Amino acid sequence: MSQLTELPSWKALWSHFTRARDWHMRALFEADPQRAEKFWLEQSGLRLDYSKNRITHQTMTLLLQLAREAGVPERIRAMFAGERINTTEQRAAFHIALRNRSGQPMGIDGEDVMPRVLGVLERMARFSDAVRNGEWLGYTQQPITDIVNIGIGGSDLGSLMVCEALKAHAHPRLNMHFVSNVDSSQLKETLRRVHAETTLFIIESKTFTTHETLTNAHTAREWFVHRARDPAAVARHFVAVSTNRKAVGEFGIDPANMFEFWDWVGGRYSLWSAIGLPIMLYIGEKNFLDLLSGAHSMDQHFRDAPLESNLPVVLGLLGVWYINFFGAGSHVIAPYDQYLHRLPAFIQQLDMESNGKRTTLDGRLVDYETAPIIWGETGINGQHAFFQLLHQGTHISPIDFIASLDGRGSLPGHHEILMANMFAQSEAFMRGRNADEVRAELQAQGLDQAAIEHLLPYKVFDGNRPSNTLLLERLDPFCLGALVALYEHKIFVQGVVWNINSFDQWGVELGKQLAHTILAELEGRSPPQAHDASTQRLIQLYLQSNRGPRAGA
Ligand code: F6P
Repeated sequence: MSQLTELPSWKALWSHFTRARDWHMRALFEADPQRAEKFWLEQSGLRLDYSKNRITHQTMTLLLQLAREAGVPERIRAMFAGERINTTEQRAAFHIALRNRSGQPMGIDGEDVMPRVLGVLERMARFSDAVRNGEWLGYTQQPITDIVNIGIGGSDLGSLMVCEALKAHAHPRLNMHFVSNVDSSQLKETLRRVHAETTLFIIESKTFTTHETLTNAHTAREWFVHRARDPAAVARHFVAVSTNRKAVGEFGIDPANMFEFWDWVGGRYSLWSAIGLPIMLYIGEKNFLDLLSGAHSMDQHFRDAPLESNLPVVLGLLGVWYINFFGAGSHVIAPYDQYLHRLPAFIQQLDMESNGKRTTLDGRLVDYETAPIIWGETGINGQHAFFQLLHQGTHISPIDFIASLDGRGSLPGHHEILMANMFAQSEAFMRGRNADEVRAELQAQGLDQAAIEHLLPYKVFDGNRPSNTLLLERLDPFCLGALVALYEHKIFVQGVVWNINSFDQWGVELGKQLAHTILAELEGRSPPQAHDASTQRLIQLYLQSNRGPRAGA
């Protein structure tokens, strides 16, 4: 039996759950006219309505007790103190220092990291100013028009998501491209759209050993040198972001063109570091600093606010309630904002790579569920695709609706439709539609009794499907920074409750090692190795299909 399941609050929650599972939110709203005000929080330009959850005041009291008993306050303090809370890698998880705008020191083992953080920020600002104002010239003395970011996972998704989200703030001369996939079609299509003379490549990799990234980077450099006909021109067109100075040098990028970050920054938590260079280039220093300030504001709230009004804590605990008690295996991110279309993918990595674990901090296997499967899409598109399952399917998947309140930048009439749909969906998920309502509606449409009874079971919606509504004052750098930090800390809170390390990712290793072995076989560098019969057969088929000259050769 694990420690978590032995906690008094855990047991109390189970006994509470035996009653709570039968509540309908409709009844909860009817019973308490103040419900929407009670389950409402505001912070750092964000408003959270969490009233459409299967909770009462007592549920929240017990969940908050669980947070205390699981040691959430102590672990928050440990994170902010720079303790090595990433215990399997013996590192701090100190991304909060990257956006520390307080002017106060923040240290790991007594060493203030802020001078280094601010030093890199200053270099990033100088470089991006030079590119943006046209002082940084390519090898034919032309300003940069296109930026190609080569990286994957945390060295791609954060910058990609933010650049898409803040497109409205972009420099008018700069086009951003992101290449993450080692499938050459992505790089090929990107290179078709850019010119060597005016393109800047940013090679982003924390380790600078990631095979996909280095392969794309080498191919991009060959493409470039072939056109520039001068390897010295690389210095004007290639920069790197990494923690691995040696490997960057070996790749052939001048250390003067390298922006560093540190091992205490996890890949999926790194957009605030030099990994955010594409963001700064695209939206400028001031906007990038506003992004950091939004995150910093959420950090201060997370560190200082009492648990009951602490947004990341509340969101994290609601997740625990559904995952561990209702058995919800997935969670939907549904932004009603096209600019946020990569947010689901970003949060998917953040959450699933952080909390997709089954071993506790003391090395035991958990006997409870941990991270849910995170998925999603822009909500309005989701409505016309997968929301059917969310309304009437057999799974319960809590939903986060996310949108900005201020629609004044929108074309006339559009934002109202968007928001009407989002509010309607959250209402529909909560209320459902019962048999009496269906009957009344069908009668009003003039259907006879037999037709009504035939259609009835299909048209009833149980409702009682939980959702949170997160409203940004507007989609600007500050609010976006706060939103991302909110999810980072929510995930941390859940990791603490589950007693797992949210900051390692050992689960990605095995596939990488096996790919290494199989690649040598596919390239004919190694004889066939012992594999299972299925893998063996697939390898053979591939080898047979690729005999003979390459297409286009
Ligand atoms: O394989 C997973 C992973 O290590 C992620 O955690 C990371 O964000 C990504 O690969 C890229 O790693 P790197 O920045 O070292 O290239």
